[in-house]
Amino acid sequence: MTNSIKRNSHQRVWLITGATSGIGRELTKYALAEGEAVAALSRSTEALAGLGPEDRLLRIDTDVRDAASVQSAIDQTVARFGHIDVVANNAGYGLFGAVEESTDAQARAIFDTNVFGVLNVLRSVLPVLRGQRAGHILQGSSLYGQSAHPGVGLLAATKYAVEGISDALVGEVAPIGIKVTIVQPAPTATAFLPNLDIAEAITDYDQTVREIQKAIAALEASAFSDAARVAAGIRAAVASENPPLRLALGTSGANDMRVALTSRLADLDTWSSVTDAVDA
Ligand SMILES: NC(=O)c1ccc[n+]([C@@H]2O[C@H](COP(=O)([O-])OP(=O)(O)OC[C@H]3O[C@@H](n4cnc5c(N)ncnc54)[C@H](OP(=O)(O)O)[C@@H]3O)[C@@H](O)[C@H]2O)c1
Repeated sequence: MTNSIKRNSHQRVWLITGATSGIGRELTKYALAEGEAVAALSRSTEALAGLGPEDRLLRIDTDVRDAASVQSAIDQTVARFGHIDVVANNAGYGLFGAVEESTDAQARAIFDTNVFGVLNVLRSVLPVLRGQRAGHILQGSSLYGQSAHPGVGLLAATKYAVEGISDALVGEVAPIGIKVTIVQPAPTATAFLPNLDIAEAITDYDQTVREIQKAIAALEASAFSDAARVAAGIRAAVASENPPLRLALGTSGANDMRVALTSRLADLDTWSSVTDAVDA
C-alpha cells in the first residue's frame, strides 16, 4: 500500500475509462476537485497531464479493446491506491448510418469498444471489487440504451447490450456488496459528434437517415447537455446510499426513453390476448 493511501484512506478511488475527453474528463476533474484519487484511462492520456496532483491522478494509456492492457491498468491502480471504489465504464464512440449501410467491419468495431471493452473492464475489476465486498460500477449507456431512431441502429445495439449485461449483473453482484448504475446521458456537448464513424450512404435512406443526420447537424448548441452537469449527476448517484439502477441525464433523452418504454408497454397490452393464447 502506498503512502498516499495511508495518508488518505478515507478517499474514494475512481477508475475512469475514456477519461481524456467529454464526460469522462469532467468526471475526472470532479473527483480530483473533491480530493479523491483517479486512475484515468484512455488510449493516450497525455491530455490529462497536470489536471491534478500526481499522488491522486494516475494516468494509464489503455485500449479497452485489449484485455491485457485493461488487466495491466487495473493491476497498476490497485498497486498504487490499494483499492478501487468506483468504476466508470465510460469509454465509447458512435456510429451513424442505416443498419444496412453499416459495414460488417464498422459493426464489429463499435461492439469491440462499446461492448467488449466494457466486458474487459468488468472481468478485470470484478475480482478486485469481490475481494473488497464493495464497489460501485457505472455502466456507460445512453438514451440509445432504451430508444433508437433511424441512423443509430448499431450504436443503439451496443448500448442495449450494455443495458442487458447490466440488468443481469446487478443481481449477480448485489449480494456481494457491489452496486451497479447504468448511466444514460442525453446528447451532450463532447467530442462524441466529431469522433462519430459515418457509414456510406445508400440513396433509399435519404428520406429517413439523411434527414435525421441533417437535423442533428443543424441542432443549436443549447440542444446538448453540458458534460460537467452530466458528471455532477453521476456524482450525485455515487454519493447516494441508494443509487438507481438507471440514471437518465438530460430531459430530452429521458423524454425519448419515456416514449419508447410507453410504446413497448402499449404493444404488451394491445397484443395480450395473442400473448396469453400461447399458454392455452
Ligand atoms: N456525447 C453524447 O452525446 C453522449 C450521449 C449518450 C452517451 N454517451 C456516451 O458517453 C461516453 C463518453 O462519450 P463522450 O461523449 O464523452 O465522448 P468523447 O468526448 O469522444 O470521449 C470518448 C473517450 O473515450 C476514449 N476512448 C475511445 N475509444 C477508446 C478505447 N478503445 N480505449 C480506451 N479509451 C477509448 C477516448 O479517448 P482516446 O481516444 O484517447 O482513447 C475519450 O477519452 C460514451 O460511452 C458515449 O457513448 C455520449
